[in-house]
Amino acid sequence: MDNQFWKNKKVFITGHTGFKGSWLCLLLYSLGAKITGYSLDPITKPNLFDDLNLKKFLVKDYRQDIENLNKLKKAIKDFNPSIIFHLAAQSSVLVSYENPLKTVSTNVLGTANVLETIKNTPSLKSAIIVTTDKVYLNLEKKKKFNENSKLGGYDLYSSSKAACDIISESYMNSFLSKKKCGLGIVRSGNCIGGGDWTKDRIIKDCVESFSKKKHLLIRSPNATRPWQHVLDPLCGYLNLAKKLYQNNKRYSGSWNFGPNKKNNLKVKEIAKIGRKIFKSKSKIFYGKKKYYESENLALDSSKSKKLLKWETKFFDKSALDLTFNWYKKYYDFKNKKELINLSFSQIELFKNKHSV
Ligand SMILES: NC(=O)c1ccc[n+]([C@@H]2O[C@H](COP(=O)([O-])OP(=O)(O)OC[C@H]3O[C@@H](n4cnc5c(N)ncnc54)[C@H](O)[C@@H]3O)[C@@H](O)[C@H]2O)c1
Repeated sequence: MDNQFWKNKKVFITGHTGFKGSWLCLLLYSLGAKITGYSLDPITKPNLFDDLNLKKFLVKDYRQDIENLNKLKKAIKDFNPSIIFHLAAQSSVLVSYENPLKTVSTNVLGTANVLETIKNTPSLKSAIIVTTDKVYLNLEKKKKFNENSKLGGYDLYSSSKAACDIISESYMNSFLSKKKCGLGIVRSGNCIGGGDWTKDRIIKDCVESFSKKKHLLIRSPNATRPWQHVLDPLCGYLNLAKKLYQNNKRYSGSWNFGPNKKNNLKVKEIAKIGRKIFKSKSKIFYGKKKYYESENLALDSSKSKKLLKWETKFFDKSALDLTFNWYKKYYDFKNKKELINLSFSQIELFKNKHSV
């Protein structure tokens, strides 16, 4: 990482109180950036944002709604950032079945509000819109999706994110390229890492069962995902944001940030690795899923590899080791300082592997 680029850069992050947003704040802080965050309160209790005391690393910590255009505009105008990362979202497939309209308004209207604000902010030179690997039309054919694959979405989370993708591209073509602000639409796979306490996510279910000596019930035991540690794609987003800042025309567009490998681990294999790390005797049971979720999903990230020299450095066993060990320490540690130090030390591992 080139520390000098990020030093004192003014960076605005939406969704900074979430799982990925919290790691992004810590990563940018470690590089010397000045960060302002704009989100609702953390969704879960516990949550990484409070556990790492992240408020103290921020210039300003807004707790407001991205659906409120005026408040969003005012927050960005007051801070005058040069780079923005948009992560705020209703981020769960299962919640999108229970609350489809809210998912659409937060994800689609919220993203349009962010784009409209970017359009009207002269100081911005680089913008990253975070969508997902689930934007691709998945016919379960076990083929890898590249940036030109057709977009779609069986569930409302996926389709709302695909809509974000399309709207972002329209804003880029219609307005942003003229004002010399680079725009990157980034799609990564399921991220793992310490501090994700979101309901129904496999790692959280595992660590709660193993630490409380309870049995574990998992849905979709045979589903595979491009599992990667959250810090791998985040380093890729930083790399891209820097390139967009320096050359908006060349790097604007959509980018995949997933592991380039043939076989992804199954959910049940992940649970078994976690059980071993926790030295747990909990039994693992397989249940039925309530709603449709895709079984196989894999990304072709050769564009990022070729043009950004980015690739996943920690996947499968190494990403799982870092993740389960973070949670193990979470249960062992007596104070927040130890957890913050552990998180910074994991960040250093990634900064040593990634270059920009
Ligand atoms: N976690 C993953 O594995 C993964 C994978 C691919 C893509 N993504 C995407 O990355 C982004 C971050 O994911 P995450 O896992 O950190 O999600 P998360 O649910 O942990 O965090 C979501 C964040 O958005 C904020 N938010 C939600 N609704 C809001 C609103 N109306 N106004 C303002 N803020 C609001 C929340 O307060 C929180 O800060 C999302 O856009 C998600 O779709 C996540």
